[in-house]
Amino acid sequence: MNWGMKNRLSKTINPKTGKTVMLAVDHGYFQGPTTGLRELKKAIDPLIPYADCLYITRGMLRNCVDAQTKIPIFLRVSGGPSILKDDLSDEHITTSMQEALRLNAVGVGMSIFVGGKNESRTIANLGKLVNEAEPNNMPVLAITAVGKEMVRDARYLGLASRIAAEMGAHIVKTYYCEDFKEVVKACPVPIVIAGGKKIDEKDALQMAYDAIQDGAVGVDMGRNIFQSDNPVGMIKAVRAIVHEGASVEDAYKIYKK
Ligand code: 5RP
Repeated sequence: MNWGMKNRLSKTINPKTGKTVMLAVDHGYFQGPTTGLRELKKAIDPLIPYADCLYITRGMLRNCVDAQTKIPIFLRVSGGPSILKDDLSDEHITTSMQEALRLNAVGVGMSIFVGGKNESRTIANLGKLVNEAEPNNMPVLAITAVGKEMVRDARYLGLASRIAAEMGAHIVKTYYCEDFKEVVKACPVPIVIAGGKKIDEKDALQMAYDAIQDGAVGVDMGRNIFQSDNPVGMIKAVRAIVHEGASVEDAYKIYKK
């Protein structure tokens, strides 16, 4: 790995702990004004000091994040269909590599829809994005998006994560599931987990804890943080689990405080 790639990755995955707490706030790219992110700037300003990296679209970055910010930026670069469409897999690359470089991004991310209607195009999109990213030393995060009809088990997520790694993704974002260790074993690049739909805080902390125990390098979590009744407490608690190896009980106390 050459210097530029190492440098960018070190701004995402903390070299001291080998772990990361990415804050995902890209949901509006297909959901519009998502609950908890209607006023995005107001929602994320108090959370930024506790995140290692922000996962966001270019539009929200330009309009809602201070250009003097110290937080590293991972850019969501795919999109297309909105929640009004049945087929969310109909995605294209929407933001260019030049734009990611202009915005000083430390990485770019996109979804693949394995088993979806447009599976082939989204996997090819990933290959093409990696082709453009490599000469620019830009890490690529591949997200194993799950369609309504897909079962989130280790077999499916293992398949999707492995395909992402085979296409050249440098980091994979997937979901936690039973036998998650098997997903990690078969995927030679770092895995972060998405939080998914909002669940009880203690359950979300347990999920983060289990994922780390099973080999994830961290989380790229959104709704379980910004839709919590105490978003700052929640991100601090997740951080304690990811970077300090805190127990679920101790992390829950942090959230409560
Ligand atoms: C949306 C995404 C999100 O970044 C990802 O799902 C993480 O957010 P959450 O924890 O809310 O699931 O890729 O498509």
